[in-house]
Amino acid sequence: MTRQQFEKLEKYMKSCMEKVRHDTEHIYRVLYTALEIAKFEKNVDKDILIASCLLHDIGKEHELKSSQIRHAKVGAKMARFFLVSNGWNRNKVEDIVHCIESHSHNSDVKPHSIEAKILYDSDKIDNIGAIGISKVLILQGKKDIPLYNLYPNGDFIEDRTDDKQSFIKTYLLHLKEIHKNMYTDYGKKLARERYHTTKIFYDKLLNELNHEYNTGKTELKKVFGEPITEQGKNNYKWLESYLLGKAGVYKDYNENWNWTRFLINKDMFAVLCKDLDGNDILNIKSSPEITNKLRRKYSEIKECSYLNKLHWNSIRLDGYIPESDMKKIIDISYDFQLSLFKDKYSKE
Ligand SMILES: [Fe+2]
Repeated sequence: MTRQQFEKLEKYMKSCMEKVRHDTEHIYRVLYTALEIAKFEKNVDKDILIASCLLHDIGKEHELKSSQIRHAKVGAKMARFFLVSNGWNRNKVEDIVHCIESHSHNSDVKPHSIEAKILYDSDKIDNIGAIGISKVLILQGKKDIPLYNLYPNGDFIEDRTDDKQSFIKTYLLHLKEIHKNMYTDYGKKLARERYHTTKIFYDKLLNELNHEYNTGKTELKKVFGEPITEQGKNNYKWLESYLLGKAGVYKDYNENWNWTRFLINKDMFAVLCKDLDGNDILNIKSSPEITNKLRRKYSEIKECSYLNKLHWNSIRLDGYIPESDMKKIIDISYDFQLSLFKDKYSKE
């Protein structure tokens, strides 16, 4: 491809995207990522790749006018007409048309050429990582879509089936999933790296929000002199009997460590002890997914300093986790340990 041909394609692309001008920067990012991926693939036709990157979203304006129109389909037709009119080789034109037609995740045509696979991956990678998050926040900000919605009781809705839109819902439904659907090896690598950034941002966001809401609501109650019911360390006196009330659970005491351990068939799943600063804590075991969720939800829950951080959390017992939540946390932990025990028993 000559510089002149490139500039002609650029000019045409910009003329098609006047009403979605901000999207033209997306075009260049896709092009640059595609060229990076191409370095690790064999037999890539750069003419086909560059032309399809530049033209892949020229149908966007039409899609904005009607939701019935698919920009990949209409864009492919527009590209065919433009390229043939400008004397491009017929075979190359059809290869470019295939790339454009198959680049969208909701297209019925799936990418089969290497150029189409690279375009698909590059286009999706632009929706992951810091760039992906920024794009969603700008777009949702313009539409007044909030970061999160709340249940009537003031708790966060962290649920992909939430009726209303929010950044949290978009993350759970889309941002969290995009990196799983790449075609090229290098595209997979880039997507994984960017997903890491997306995940850190999301986890931090929830962490900050949960911390502020949990702490702030309790402080506000104090201002109004309202009793903090079901909360506070005095209400945790039931902990030991609650744990021992579960079928198959017994306790032992380790004098050296000053640990009261709660076990099922020699395996412990909860420990009452003190943290490094001498505060009363409950160390509790659960699946890695639950462990992380709990750390995000409650400021009193941190990773355990003494035990495997993947499975173990430490809960400060001078915090404000409601009694009902605390019981739920113990129930989940007990069920998890029981399932491990059953697994082990069935294998023996
Ligand atoms: Fe795109």
